Amino acid sequence: MTKKTRATEHTEFSEAQIAVHWKEEERFRPPKKFVEQANAKDRDIRERFGPKKFPNCFREYADMLTWFEPYRTILDTSKPPFWKWFVGGKINASYNCVDRHLAQYRNKAALIFVPEPEDEPTVALTYQELYNRVNEMAALLRDFCGLKAGDRVTFHLPMTLELPITMLACARLGVIHSQVFGGFSGQACGTRIQDSGSHILISMDAYWRAGKLGDHKANADIAVQTAQEMGQQVDKVLIWQRYPGKYSSPTPMVKGRDFFVNEVLKNYHGKRVDPLPMDSEAPLFLMYTSGSTGKPKGCQHRTGGYLAYVAGTSKYIQDIHPTDTYWCMADIGWITGHSYIVYGPLAVAATSVVYEGVPTHPDAGRPWRIAERLGVNIFHTAPTSIRMLRKQGPEEPKKYNYHFKHMTTVGEPIEPEAWRWYYHEVGKGEAVIVDTWWQTENGGFLCSTVPAIDPMKPGSAGPGVPGIYPIIYDENGKEVRAGSGQAGNICIRNPWPGIMQTIWGDPERFVDQYYARYCKNRHSKDWRDWPYLAGDGAMQAADGYFRILGRIDDVINVAGHRLGTKEIESACLTVPEVAEAAAVPVADELKGRVPEIYIALKPGYQASQEIVNRVIKANEDLIGKIARPKSVYIVPDMPKTRSGKIMRRILASISNRKDVGDVTTLANPDVVEQIRVSVQGKEKVASKDALPEDIAKFGEND
Ligand code: WT7
Repeated sequence: MTKKTRATEHTEFSEAQIAVHWKEEERFRPPKKFVEQANAKDRDIRERFGPKKFPNCFREYADMLTWFEPYRTILDTSKPPFWKWFVGGKINASYNCVDRHLAQYRNKAALIFVPEPEDEPTVALTYQELYNRVNEMAALLRDFCGLKAGDRVTFHLPMTLELPITMLACARLGVIHSQVFGGFSGQACGTRIQDSGSHILISMDAYWRAGKLGDHKANADIAVQTAQEMGQQVDKVLIWQRYPGKYSSPTPMVKGRDFFVNEVLKNYHGKRVDPLPMDSEAPLFLMYTSGSTGKPKGCQHRTGGYLAYVAGTSKYIQDIHPTDTYWCMADIGWITGHSYIVYGPLAVAATSVVYEGVPTHPDAGRPWRIAERLGVNIFHTAPTSIRMLRKQGPEEPKKYNYHFKHMTTVGEPIEPEAWRWYYHEVGKGEAVIVDTWWQTENGGFLCSTVPAIDPMKPGSAGPGVPGIYPIIYDENGKEVRAGSGQAGNICIRNPWPGIMQTIWGDPERFVDQYYARYCKNRHSKDWRDWPYLAGDGAMQAADGYFRILGRIDDVINVAGHRLGTKEIESACLTVPEVAEAAAVPVADELKGRVPEIYIALKPGYQASQEIVNRVIKANEDLIGKIARPKSVYIVPDMPKTRSGKIMRRILASISNRKDVGDVTTLANPDVVEQIRVSVQGKEKVASKDALPEDIAKFGEND
């Protein structure tokens, strides 16, 4: 890149844009020691995965796996956008993550479990023992539950070893697992049981979180009841005991329906189950995520393409070697955990750490003590945790003798300030950082630097990873000039093996949501006509790095997790007094964004704290604690257009203490000032600073 192009990058900004965007950051070179040992240190990787090599480049990832039968076609595009990868191949994910490592790594730790209580010992599970336990569990699922390939099973499991064991046991049989984040409520789990058509729910009696051994079995009962009310019968509920042999929940077991897994497992001691050779295109799992409508989408991921993609990116972007101790602090209940705690790392024979609890328990030094004790050398977390650890223990990392060679950030944009603390304090200036941008739908990373090759730039994810070609379109479908620094909607030009197959049970929504917007020709069989719409705003700097600006749809990214505004609003409407509800994102120092809720009551009801409390509880019960709003405001009326649409954008401005702009065209302009005063107080506090892009554009479709 020349000086001149960088200069134009700046002069092309309008004044408003400069206010929104961060300034161009300095670059950091990957440490030499890292480069020397890296899996991908040859610049030739960009060439190998260059546009001319598509789609054959992805053979390199597929070849990292062991196939029972080789694939014939790398990419089949005959039914866009339902791409097929490695067609004709037969493969088993459990075999690839476990069995094939036995010869070389039998007695190496595959997984290390760190309980939240610090006085409880860690548990290292070798590949041999993982093999034993996956086989026994697979036998139980097959013979006790009657499960077979293609059936769906819902899990509502916390962060213990039983979760990856049960996932791999399903994969062994070709059973499609659907893990619901353990922190979600019983109702949220129930709706996902219903959507996936599961007859079996697998959960745990209790788990530790922030110093408390919480009752989790109660959620299983609620989940089963919710599913039942929606017409889906659950036949068996399998409950793992957090402490085998001891029941840690006060909620009774239901006779004939509920079973303790660890007890039933005794009948399968030493049992072996051959891994079933699955079609490359057979679904491996479902992972639900929020979209712009109330109903969560079951992202359906395939076996061959997905596993190839997470193996390849684990090797080249996460730089995992079998000798590394790798710790991703995410929850396996999110896609990050599926791809980069379980499937990716185990496919490349890593030692992967599973931590049960919160990062700051009992204090903000905990992660660094774990790293020191286990010799963790690759660390992976989200900006929200980085901000929290920085706030609560800025000096903590220094106190511990651990050394990371590589660190990842994922889930939301990271402010350069937080990035620098991560780099200098957590990484001690020795570790390379990758800022990985991707989504539940994508299977694996889309944008990131290749750690030994590309310099790091705080706050920017980087270019597309090898084989991924992002492009930015404007509102009218016009391509934004590459490297121009102009914001637009980021899309991916080409299919890739990790992309979801479809939305479970709703292929039309899949096409509408991700492809309809910029599809050039609905009849075309050429993948070039089908760019994938990610739903994020982004801009590309002159150096080719993408900076992600946040969601463009009605989704609020809370601490790196997606919540649909419609889901929140539907939860509010279950409170009988509530006539209308609107959820908006508010910038939050630690969590990135948090929802704030505005409600209008039905005629004849008085505003009260009691109603507010029930609105909060409705969100916690129906979605989970993660959906707890920062505030709930009861307003006399919602600001509305003349056609009656709620103007969420105006509410978002008020919540974020920004100027509401011109409201004279509304049906009820006066209500805006009333709401403003009740939220912000009489004095005008609105600042003239521009809102972050995602909030500024929020509710534009209203
Ligand atoms: C949304 C996807 C799969 C990662 C975990 C979250 C935001 C994700 C980044 C990043 C800026 C990011 C986007 C995306 N996001 N990573 N590195 N920089 N924003 O998965 O729940 O499906 O959320 O998270 O807005 O669309 P998810």
